Amino acid sequence: MQQQEPDLLKKVVALCKRRGFVYPGSDIYGGFANTYSYGPHGIELKKNIKDLWWKQFIHNRTDMVGMDGPILLHPRTWEASGHVVGFNDAMVDCKACKARFRADHLIEKALNLNVEGMDLEEINALLTKEKLTCPKCGKSDWTQARFFNLMFSTKLSKTGSNDDDIAYLRPETAQAIFLDYKNLLDTMRLQVPFGVGQIGKAFRNEITPGNFLFRVIEFEQMEIEYFIEPSTWTTVFEDWLEKMWQWCDLIGLKRDHLGLYEHPQEKLSHYSKRTVDIMFDFPFGRQELYGLAYRTDFDLSKHSEAARQSMEYTDPKTREKYIPHVVEPTFGLDRTFLALLCDAYEEQALEGDEVRTVLHLKPQIAPVKIAIFPLMKKEVLVEKAQQVLDLLRIFGNVQYDESGAIGKRYRRHDEIGTPYCVTVDFDTIEKDDTVTVRDRDTMKQERVAVKDLLNFFQKLF
Ligand code: GAP
Repeated sequence: MQQQEPDLLKKVVALCKRRGFVYPGSDIYGGFANTYSYGPHGIELKKNIKDLWWKQFIHNRTDMVGMDGPILLHPRTWEASGHVVGFNDAMVDCKACKARFRADHLIEKALNLNVEGMDLEEINALLTKEKLTCPKCGKSDWTQARFFNLMFSTKLSKTGSNDDDIAYLRPETAQAIFLDYKNLLDTMRLQVPFGVGQIGKAFRNEITPGNFLFRVIEFEQMEIEYFIEPSTWTTVFEDWLEKMWQWCDLIGLKRDHLGLYEHPQEKLSHYSKRTVDIMFDFPFGRQELYGLAYRTDFDLSKHSEAARQSMEYTDPKTREKYIPHVVEPTFGLDRTFLALLCDAYEEQALEGDEVRTVLHLKPQIAPVKIAIFPLMKKEVLVEKAQQVLDLLRIFGNVQYDESGAIGKRYRRHDEIGTPYCVTVDFDTIEKDDTVTVRDRDTMKQERVAVKDLLNFFQKLF
């Protein structure tokens, strides 16, 4: 495990606000805890991650399709999936300072004891017997521990009836895929093994949210449900684990900041027979980044029973009938975003006392691909720079910037991770129609003819 600089999170949060990546949610009202807005550079980075994920796992494979299901699913979904009864954490409040904790985290940290599977009576007995103290105020005066369901509920008013029904904001995108498994099978000529990918919002009323984007109450998941013949699950599982590592390399996460965590049997979610997490060394410690679970036929069987619909698949060759099993690679988007910023952030000492802050993001995911500068605000330079801007727009989000000294403009773009800056100067106009291209990481500059620019950048993106 690689220890990251403890102040790194503070620095990343500050950069995110300063440079239009992430703002606190509902900022003008003093914020709304654990919600965030993605600003213009944040949304570009997020979109680039999503596009790359879609390309890697949907477009580049013949065994995968994509979909986009609703956030609000039939309320019976969550009864069948086990979330109404089982998606709970035990919470406890300190009576003295009113701080709230997850009882399992509190006990595990203080006693190094696994409380998975303990009932409330046992948890309460432990809290009293061991006289656990509050990590915030040091007192030992607890309320009774109680289970808290993490799903956000809302009321539906049904048209034409006076009944109000409870609906849940989905706590995972996965269930939308299970609900459409039959539609997908019937309409897309899919044959097992096949997978369905989806990117979308999920909501969890977390007891202890925090650490910026790491644990929030509204977040995005990029999930795959991969439907298989049951006897193949171990090979498929290992194969997906490898694919997840390749994804981490593709987006530029440092291997020595990554690790694996195998969930012990007693810690598995109610639907899983095996779960392995890909962990990342965040500035606040090694924590879950992604998960890979073998969900068996748990979900399809439960929905089959509850909705009285057959979920059986008929093998076209053997005519054997079975309910497919599922291997689920799941990727949190907001955690990817945070991990990338933590890995990309560098403060470089330059000559004198100058420090440059730079984000070493891979060009494919950088929010701004190329910045175009006229050396000065002179009409001839501005006009030419605008022409270069138009020429290079095919590479995506290309920005024009004419304000401030050229050095300041470089620093601004270093901070948002722009891999290349192109400057139009007097030589461009008066001499040879070349511009300078400056590399973010090496800070080296080279002159490239305007007529060669497309070729030049095609090799880099
Ligand atoms: N469908 C399986 C599932 O939802 P999970 O481990 O509970 O599994 C999947 O969540 C991923 O979603 C996690 O690996 C993490 O990246 C992300 N995630 C979960 N809870 C989150 C939260 N409160 N805030 C931000 N991301 C979260």
